[in-house]
Amino acid sequence: MKIGGVNVEQLVATCGSPLQVYDEAAIETKLNEYQANFVSDYFETEVIYASKAFTCQAMLQLLQTFNTSLDVVSGGELFVAKAVKFDPNKIYFHGNNKTEDEIVDALHYGVKTMVVDNVYEIDTLIQIASKLNKQVHVLIRLNPKVEAHTHAYIMTATSDSKFGIDIDKESEIKAMIQKMEVSDNLIFDGFHSHIGSQIFAYDAFTVAIDKLVNFIAKIGYPVHTLNMGGGFGVVYTSEDKPAPVREVMKQLISALEASCIKHQVSIQKACIEPGRSVVAEAGYTLYRVGFTKQTENKQFLFVDGGMADNIRPALYDAKYSCDLVHRINEAKTEIYDIAGKCCESGDILIHDIALPKATSNDILVVYSTGAYGYSMASNYNRLNRLAVVFVKAGKARQVLRRETYEDQMRLDEIKEITMVEEEETC
Ligand code: LLP
Repeated sequence: MKIGGVNVEQLVATCGSPLQVYDEAAIETKLNEYQANFVSDYFETEVIYASKAFTCQAMLQLLQTFNTSLDVVSGGELFVAKAVKFDPNKIYFHGNNKTEDEIVDALHYGVKTMVVDNVYEIDTLIQIASKLNKQVHVLIRLNPKVEAHTHAYIMTATSDSKFGIDIDKESEIKAMIQKMEVSDNLIFDGFHSHIGSQIFAYDAFTVAIDKLVNFIAKIGYPVHTLNMGGGFGVVYTSEDKPAPVREVMKQLISALEASCIKHQVSIQKACIEPGRSVVAEAGYTLYRVGFTKQTENKQFLFVDGGMADNIRPALYDAKYSCDLVHRINEAKTEIYDIAGKCCESGDILIHDIALPKATSNDILVVYSTGAYGYSMASNYNRLNRLAVVFVKAGKARQVLRRETYEDQMRLDEIKEITMVEEEETC
């Protein structure tokens, strides 16, 4: 089996396992598809990659070559952006509870747009921006209260969501805009909404867009930008049937154009923020098979990673598919639960999957692991984070080295704590 023209067995022999592999050309294809199809004759468009799905310097450098913008939600994600000198004019800083340090950091770097989540954040932002004498553009995150049918933990626009401001709180939202109007430091650009993740019911976007545009018409302030978020579904197993990016983008653009005409609204720019759909299908995790175990009702196949490199099955009951690399053409005679090595019964990557009979040292490939795997990885049981390689046209390059025990021990530092005086902080 080859990924990006590189032999998978050789890759594991060289780089070890578990190993996260990205087919770079597949990421490029997605970026091209978004850039080419998210276009309109009526307004400018901007594709923003949500770096929470997967970020590292090589990933951001790839975005730079495609002129894609960047969504960051923390000082940490911004730190990676700074490391590659990502153009701050193309950075959107999100988050429902940005710390003062994060805001200061963003403004110092010249981040162009802050996506403000709540009423209190506007005051904090005004204070910090005026103290630093910086100007910053602002989008207000609205909650359009549109139910996107996906896992409850990744729905973000229910009426009790922690994200954004309820679209019905018109006077609060107007008050925020008025504060910006009188501030010398904040420039109100428009609104943002993100209704959820891994969405296939594309009509949810159409409904959200119409609610947002209707809201813009109602409040009567000129709105430059509308950011419609991300959330486009991907294929994890054969049950997942996303529409092609081209069609989804067409539907979004037509919906936005139609709503603007219907409500007599004109905007200058529309944005989208895909994360998962840019990187998920391009990613593969390669594991080495260890032991197998037969219990009363189950046959387990143990691999040398698990919930520490992919928490999604345990957290969201996420489904994946896999193959045994050397045995793709053999008959699938067995039913396995693919279990990780963590001390947790829930550490099952895939339940009841049909595979050929496996033996120790086989390589197992799990498909579509490119999004929210590495970025949500942990050191549970003190496992080291896996290495990540990009492959393309028969060549491989390491983009994140495998963690070592020494890396983990770097934080294991014992020292007496001298309490600071009241005003100071830790
Ligand atoms: N924009 C905002 C404001 C977001 O909150 C998110 C994702 C995105 C864009 C990108 O959404 P995407 O295109 O990747 O669906 N850890 C979960 C997913 C959480 C998504 C959080 N926000 C998972 O593993 O499924």
